[in-house]
Amino acid sequence: MTADRTADAAPQAPRPFGLLAELTYRCPLACAYCSNPIELARYDDELSTADWQRVFTEAADLGVLQCHLSGGEPLLRRDLPELVRTAAGLGMYTNLVTSAMGLSRRRAEELRAAGLDHVQVSVQADEPTTSDRIAGIPSFERKLEACRLVRELGWPLTVNVVLHRQNIDRVAAILDLVEDLQADRVELANTQYYGWAWKNRTALLPSHEQLDRAEEIVTAARDRLAGRMEVVHVLPDYYSRYPKPCMGGWAQRQLTVAPDGDALPCPAAQTLPLPRASVRDASLAEIWHSAPLFTAYRGEDWMQDPCRTCDRRELDHGGCRCQAFQLTGDPAATDPVCHLSPEHHLITEAVDEANRPLPVDLELVPRPHR
Ligand code: SF4
Ligand code: FES
Repeated sequence: MTADRTADAAPQAPRPFGLLAELTYRCPLACAYCSNPIELARYDDELSTADWQRVFTEAADLGVLQCHLSGGEPLLRRDLPELVRTAAGLGMYTNLVTSAMGLSRRRAEELRAAGLDHVQVSVQADEPTTSDRIAGIPSFERKLEACRLVRELGWPLTVNVVLHRQNIDRVAAILDLVEDLQADRVELANTQYYGWAWKNRTALLPSHEQLDRAEEIVTAARDRLAGRMEVVHVLPDYYSRYPKPCMGGWAQRQLTVAPDGDALPCPAAQTLPLPRASVRDASLAEIWHSAPLFTAYRGEDWMQDPCRTCDRRELDHGGCRCQAFQLTGDPAATDPVCHLSPEHHLITEAVDEANRPLPVDLELVPRPHR
């Protein structure tokens, strides 16, 4: 074990609670809302089984309690059961985040035996035509079969549906489907505009009218399903007055490790103009405590006006660093979603465009299969 125990020597630093282990960016689907990086080829040299096992050990030593096994499609890693067994053996709660493509009965039983605690399946719509068009391949029926298998094997099931202009009008039927599948939880998460979703923003950003209608339906469903199914609704920050407290603050509670070993404070942080930090070169503790990518925006010292003197800075931490950089070129800028940002017009212009009478099925640029 190579874990660095310096975590104990730095009491001023927060302890991470969750690890997002992006095991591979390979994926059989081609969803246009995918937040994976645009330069997918850069990630072909994936960490080995032993590398991931070391990362999990170091994460547990740092205090991580939840291990989310994600991608891409994590089921494409043949060593997935071995990785689950390691994470579970370290006492972490293990969550598989999957498209469910490749979740055969044999594979599911292996994962159950390895100690997997929870499964989250992505579903694109309530019926095959829309779902398969958004996913880029015929996959709807196999997803439903996989959801039933998850319930049969006794796992808690979360169904994740990324909402956008092209499926949000179907939210009532989507909720009916998820109820039929007997999910414990549904996450209706409006698209976050990173990676491929950023490329497709015009075709994905819903109109105000669409959002209002959906919110009414979701609120009624939440009341109706109370006690049976948790309904989580993540609204699009483009329509908010204040930004989201992205990641609960920079390098505070979560960390991500990308398939090539890059350690990141959030899944989109590889875009920022800061030196890379890789688990191939340093321990997770060294990276968490000292890598510029993790320390640059921790706390409040980096803030500029208007955040620097704003009463809400402890609530939203100035918003999302990745979005600030993407839209303004300055990662320390106030997130332009905030109506107090001098660059807020960048958001209102996009929202104005989404509220023009555009068709709801504009052409999507699919994320390539790899
Ligand atoms: Fe949040 Fe900064 Fe806007 Fe204040 S100015 S509400 S801290 S983003
Ligand atoms: Fe990176 Fe928000 S996505 S800080």
